[in-house]
Parts: sequence; structure tokens; C-alpha cells
Amino acid sequence: MSNLYGRRVLLGVTGGIAAYKSPDLVRRLREAGAQVRVAMTAGAMEFVRPLTFQAVSGEPVHHDLLDPAAEAAMGHIELARWADQVLVAPASANFMARLAHGMADDLLTTLCLATEAPIALAPAMNRVMWANAATLANRDLLVRRGIRMIGPGSGDQACGEVGEGRMLDVPDIVAALTGDPAEPGPLDGTRVLVTVGPTREAVDPVRFLSNRSSGRMGFAVAAAARRMGAEVVAVAGPCAVSTPPGVERVDVETAAQMHEAVMARAPGCDIFVGAAAVADYRVAEVPEAKIKKNDDTLTLSLLKNPDILQSVAALPDPPFTVGFAAETHDLRDHAEAKRRRKSLDMIAANWVGRAQGGFEGDENALEVLWEGGGRSLGMQSKAALADALMELVAERYHEERGSQDSR
Ligand code: C5P
Repeated sequence: MSNLYGRRVLLGVTGGIAAYKSPDLVRRLREAGAQVRVAMTAGAMEFVRPLTFQAVSGEPVHHDLLDPAAEAAMGHIELARWADQVLVAPASANFMARLAHGMADDLLTTLCLATEAPIALAPAMNRVMWANAATLANRDLLVRRGIRMIGPGSGDQACGEVGEGRMLDVPDIVAALTGDPAEPGPLDGTRVLVTVGPTREAVDPVRFLSNRSSGRMGFAVAAAARRMGAEVVAVAGPCAVSTPPGVERVDVETAAQMHEAVMARAPGCDIFVGAAAVADYRVAEVPEAKIKKNDDTLTLSLLKNPDILQSVAALPDPPFTVGFAAETHDLRDHAEAKRRRKSLDMIAANWVGRAQGGFEGDENALEVLWEGGGRSLGMQSKAALADALMELVAERYHEERGSQDSR
């Protein structure tokens, strides 16, 4: 396993007996290529000594928000920025509750609030505590905000009981992070190509035209496809979202570059998802020098960009093709017309210009339409929504391939 290579994992350890497994987790993450720094809560230090983590991580261990010496070495904001993945294992019921309520009353909760890196929790607690309505509500809230739950699993517990709530085994936690699917999934053996984010069209050497796409939905789709067993390539315009584990990323800037990168790869693919907000037009002639603001008005002549999605759907043996549609009114009608016009197998439409959902937020809702059917996917985190969308894609893809094969 090597696809954590170069990744900077901040491992949070909270107070639970499963903390005795966390030094081994550090070792395995490092074997998979990650650089690991550990932040412990006060409760965690009752179970394992910081020195143990220092020895296995090869880095100083962080535990105190208000320790001037530790802050001088690497401040908590710097540490939050350093991480490109936060993993809390074990995550106790108390920690989940504090995180769900946005508390910042110790180093680890503060780091979780201050980081832009994805956060994953491996919960560990007694089965009754896990099944408690308060814990489940906290879990749901965290998942809706895009925090990923790795486990818990079921089985023998340290308290002598048997049930759901034990921390997953270390290799399973590492597998979940690397993106190597732990079990066979519905997209096993398929190749999925996804376009992600905005494109950028130069106006002159310093300016460009672009849009508000964050890339979160596209990368969530790529991550979901990977978890379901596909080999995934994401062709991404400029966006700050980190690449999900196990996904190959091809960075491009303009619509023309995205078109070229996609058309080079689409013929070998089984499924294509056009999640990028591709600029419809580019500047016809980009001057070599910066445009001066001498005149009161400036007229730019724009040329239409190639429609990437339509070009893929028009290939002689096209992959199962899924498009997105962002609409401000008559969502279903416009989306269905677009699906037909572009000869797509499926279209996922969402409202834009409303208070919730759309480009920049963490949540969205989709109306998914295909020939003769459709499904509404309600407002939820983009990660959960991408899972639901890719489940539908897998279902429809197998149904269509099945009927094609028997023709
Ligand atoms: O026609 P419209 O831009 O609304 O269609 C949106 C869908 O088409 C999205 O899936 C988007 O990724 C794709 N698209 C594309 N190339 C373009 C414009 C849109 O692939 N030039």
C-alpha cells in the first residue's frame, strides 16, 4: 500500500481503551508512506503516554493548546494547516459530542475547527453509548457536515460486552484512508472518468474568466466511485480541494485543456461523469500584454468552448455518460431537455442561486433523471450525496450493460 505517500496525517487520539491500538496505527500509516503527527486529548494520556507516540511517529506529540513552548515550535493554526488529512482514532462519544457542537476547548477540537483538511473519525465506545440517541444524533450531524465515519465495527468489547461500537482494526482504518476498497463493490473492474471544478479562461496574462465551482462535488463523486471499487481518474480545473485517496488527478486550467485530457482518456472508460463547471466561452484573442484601463468600456470577443460532455456522449462506443445541470427555474424540464439534447444516460440537476445548496456550500440536493425514470436525492452533505448518486449510476450502468449484452 503506497498511496498515502507524502500525505500529512494528523492523528487525533482521544480517551478510550482503544487508544492502545493507536501507536500501531501510526506505524502502519507511516509504512503506507504518510508523515504522521499526533495530537492527544487529556483523556487519551490516561491510557497511553505521549512518549510512546513520539517514539513511533518520530515527531513531537501535541496535547496542550495553551503551552507557550509547544506553540512556539508549531502553533495550533500551523498544525491545522500542515495536515492534509485529520484522523481521530479512537474517537470517543465525548469527543464526537464536542466536535458536533463546535467546541474548541482543547487542542484537538480546536485543530478540527481550524483545519481545511478532510476529517475522518474512527469511533470507539461501549455499544450502549454508541446506540444512545445523543451519540447517533451527533454522528448524523457530523456526517451531514462532511466528516467521514470509519466504523465502528461490532464484536467483543473491552468492557466485556458484545455489540457495535468497537474501533475497527488498524489495517481496516488504513485501508479506508488509502482508498483501497476493503470489500468488493458495485463498480469493481470499471474505469470511471470525472471532470471536476471550474475552468479558467485567460483574458490577458494576469486576468481570467472563471466561476464559483469549488470542486467539492466532483471530488466527492470521484471518492465515492473509488470506494465502490472503480479505477478513477479526475480531470480537475484549478481548485483547492485535496485529491481523494486512490484517485488519479490530472490538473488542467482551460476548457480546451480539459477537453483534450478527457478525449484522450474517455474511449477506455466505462463511466464518465461531467461534474465540472466548464466555462462556456473563452476569449477569442488573448493579448500578450496586460490590458490597460484607458477606456471607459472594454469589449471582449468570446468564442464558444467545446462541450466536453456532449463530445464524450457522441463517441462511437460511448461510456455510460452522466451530466450535471445547474438551473434557476423549471429544474426538471430543463434538465430532461438537456439530457436528451446531449444524448446522456443520466443527468443530475440542482438548483442554483438559492440560499442552500449549489456551488460553494458543503451540502446539496439533486434531481436525478434517466430515460423513463428518476429519483430525488434530498439535501445532505456532498459526500453522502455523491455516494447516493454513484449507487444510482452503478445500478443503471449494470442494467444498461446487462440489456446491451443480451441484445
Ligand atoms: O449545458 P450546460 O453547461 O448547462 O451543461 C452542464 C453539463 O455539461 C455539466 O455536466 C458540465 O460538466 C458539462 N459541460 C461540459 N463542457 C462544456 C459545458 C458543459 O462538459 N463546455
